[in-house]
Amino acid sequence: MSGPGCSSITRRELLERTLAGLGLGALAACGASLFTAPSITAFTIKLADFPSLASVGGLAIVDDGARSGDPVAVARTGTSTFVALSLICPHRGSAVQISGSGFYCPGHGATFAANGSWTGGQPTSNLGSYRISYDTTNGTLQIG
Ligand code: FES
Repeated sequence: MSGPGCSSITRRELLERTLAGLGLGALAACGASLFTAPSITAFTIKLADFPSLASVGGLAIVDDGARSGDPVAVARTGTSTFVALSLICPHRGSAVQISGSGFYCPGHGATFAANGSWTGGQPTSNLGSYRISYDTTNGTLQIG
C-alpha cells in the first residue's frame, strides 16, 4: 500500500519492524533463529523403502505419502539408532536440503551435520527434531 506519507516496505522490513516493536530487534538484526520445527502427525516408514538408510551415516527425506507440507529427514546415526529432523530452516523457514553427509539451506547458506547440529554459514540454531522409534522386528521407524 502506498500513498501520500506512506511508503511500501518488504516483508523482511515488516518483520524486523514488528520484532523491534516487541523489543526483539536484536533477533531481527543478527539473523537469529525465528522458526521452530512444525508439529507433525506421527507416521511410520519401512526402512527397506529408503536404501540410503541401510548404512550408518545414511540420510533420507521421508514421507508416508499422506502428509503434506513440512519435510522430514531421517539420519542413521548407529546400527540401531536414528534421528528424525525437521527440514524447515530455523533461521527463516526455507526448506533445507540434503548435501553430502549433512544438510544445506539455500536460503542464506546455513549448514548442518547429519544429527541436525548447526555447523556453519548463516548463524542459526540446530534443526528441530522429532521422536523416532525403531521396530527391529518389522524394520520400521515411527516418527513424530
Ligand atoms: S532460511 Fe536463512 S539460512 Fe536457512
